[in-house]
Amino acid sequence: MKLAVLTSGGDSAGMNAVVRAVVKTAIAKGCEAWVVREGYEGLVRGNAHETQEVKDARASKDEAGFVHNLRFGDGELLKDGTGDFISGRTMRGRYIVRVGWDDVRGWFGEGGTLIGTARSVTFRTTEGRQTAAHNMIKEGIDALVVCGGDGSLTGADVFRSEWPKHVEALRSQDKITEEQAKAHQHLRIVGLVGSIDNDMAMTDMTIGAPTALHRICEAIDNINSTAYSHSRAFVLEVMGRHCGWLALMAGVSSGADFIFIPENPPEADNWEDRMCSAIQSHREIGQRKTIVIVAEGALDSALKPICADHVKDVLANRLGLDTRVTTLGHTQRGGVPCAYDRIMPTLQGIEAVEALLESTPETPSYMIGVRENKIHRVPLMEAVAKTREVATAIAAKDFARAMSLRDPEFAE
Ligand code: F6P
Repeated sequence: MKLAVLTSGGDSAGMNAVVRAVVKTAIAKGCEAWVVREGYEGLVRGNAHETQEVKDARASKDEAGFVHNLRFGDGELLKDGTGDFISGRTMRGRYIVRVGWDDVRGWFGEGGTLIGTARSVTFRTTEGRQTAAHNMIKEGIDALVVCGGDGSLTGADVFRSEWPKHVEALRSQDKITEEQAKAHQHLRIVGLVGSIDNDMAMTDMTIGAPTALHRICEAIDNINSTAYSHSRAFVLEVMGRHCGWLALMAGVSSGADFIFIPENPPEADNWEDRMCSAIQSHREIGQRKTIVIVAEGALDSALKPICADHVKDVLANRLGLDTRVTTLGHTQRGGVPCAYDRIMPTLQGIEAVEALLESTPETPSYMIGVRENKIHRVPLMEAVAKTREVATAIAAKDFARAMSLRDPEFAE
């Protein structure tokens, strides 16, 4: 089997651990391992525009497997094991790249995604997906691991269901041979959830969420000391477009005074009164500092966004608190993965390769998730559909349903 792995959508800590685990497991099980740079965009671009410099350098591999004339960071030449991946920076014009064991050495501890990611517009079109199929077939790749959020995983399932149609079209246009069409009748695909928001149904934890949470807690610890010194209030905006997990867990881990999340908007439009009275009572029992956490997707009772600046004005005007806003932004997403975001993505990467090896045209595409600290497989489309239903339930103010879809135990 020739297996490729790509990362797609917003990056998250742990994506490199996924790539490392998939590559090493694939090689250990006798498969060829490939990476696709820049997510689905790389699949669409393929290797047609490989620069002459890269072509020459690849041709100049010496007997010991060293590739010459390519820069890697400070100019070091790399022995690239069985593959030809050198680094995203140097393989200009090549997006689908074979990799070896050594190419992913030490990737555990790296933040972001070293093979790049993108939110590809072209892949959303049928033509784009057909070009992607063509590029994969040209390289002989018949299995794909996708690590990304729900949008990326939806794309993965659409790609798989359309695959036979693409193969037929490519054959009828003479873009691929009869043999290639026969050898690529079925695309094996598996999804892993890379998202700092922990916003996917049917898994307890998404890859990158624990690291982002840790980052937020560190930031709150830092803010606490300056807030305490000046007896100030701080309103912290944290990420989480449709999911308040980061805000809620950060609030619990750091003893915040008030938290706003999309899944639990204030029931009436008097949230300002409730927040002020809670904070006032904390101040009265001696609290010198105030921390309010606002998820970026937080909503009020009319399902209108609650923004951090407005919360700040309320605290300043009604309670007379010297208040500052801190938007943590992408500091939450980047940086070194915590231990959990090394261990779990590794186990999930191994499971992904095993699922691909067992895949048949009859089996569904799987999503590899975590349930009660165990790695498990669930049908990809079921998880994506449930995640979409959560958004619909939130929009309909049916928060109990939203929570029970995310976590069945919530309903019990
Ligand atoms: O989905 C992950 C996420 O980090 C969200 O929390 C946030 O709203 C969004 O991505 C930010 O996206 P971008 O990096 O494109 O601004």
